[in-house]
Amino acid sequence: MAPEILRIRNLTFSYDGGRPILNGLNLELGEGEILSVMGRSGSGKTTLLKLIAGLLYPYDGEITLKILKNRLGYVPQQIGLVSNLTALQNVLLGSLGRPGGYGRILGIFPEEEVEKAYKLLNELGISELADRKAALLSGGERQRVAVGRALMQEPQLLLADEFVSDLDVFNAMEVMKITRDLCRRKNVSVIMTMHDAFLVKGFSDRVAVIGNGRVIRDFPASQLDTESLSKLLVGDAVV
Ligand SMILES: Nc1ncnc2c1ncn2[C@@H]1O[C@H](COP(=O)(O)OP(=O)(O)OP(=O)(O)O)[C@@H](O)[C@H]1O
Ligand SMILES: [Mg+2]
Repeated sequence: MAPEILRIRNLTFSYDGGRPILNGLNLELGEGEILSVMGRSGSGKTTLLKLIAGLLYPYDGEITLKILKNRLGYVPQQIGLVSNLTALQNVLLGSLGRPGGYGRILGIFPEEEVEKAYKLLNELGISELADRKAALLSGGERQRVAVGRALMQEPQLLLADEFVSDLDVFNAMEVMKITRDLCRRKNVSVIMTMHDAFLVKGFSDRVAVIGNGRVIRDFPASQLDTESLSKLLVGDAVV
């Protein structure tokens, strides 16, 4: 097994003192591993990713991330590109977390960062759209820009929340394939949430199913079988 990059122990979280959304959840991730988190709508998938990303606090339990500071990429469920900035400028926003003074905030990026952003757009197959405003991009193109923005942070761990759910199956497969290949090549570990079992099986190494606030099944993606999954998710087999 590859060295561990993430270990979660007994994670318990509720919003504003309400009922626990996560309740004693345990999960590990190996370096370079691609994990899909599945679960019913409202089961806490987005909440889990936000907790890992450090966007929600406080919580009980332990989240141990073995990555360098700032080396976490996050593609939120609502991707939130800045619509009046171009594709290239949106990707460059991913480098804002790096040290380098006020220039970046004013939109002045070092030349090597601009080159890197172009290279990413090229790898994502949309370099010809670099100067197009995000508002004028298609759904699939916007998702690729959002992936580019997250990869611009040179993440060791990428968190991607339903990032292909709005796309038709062909676009979704294409964006998934590009993202997976790029992450494999750059040795980026990935946790993604996904509803589509076909995509999960095709593009991840492992699946964790959450229900009742914890991981109720954890298995290799190759063993994903849609029938037992649907029983688990929609039947009353959730224990
Ligand atoms: N900011 C918030 N304040 C209070 N409750 C919230 C907040 N965000 C989410 N919730 C609740 O927490 C639960 C888990 O939400 P979460 O968004 O993590 O689910 P999910 O598994 O990502 O669902 P989906 O598949 O629909 O995206 C839901 O019941 C939701 O209503
Ligand atoms: Mg969600």
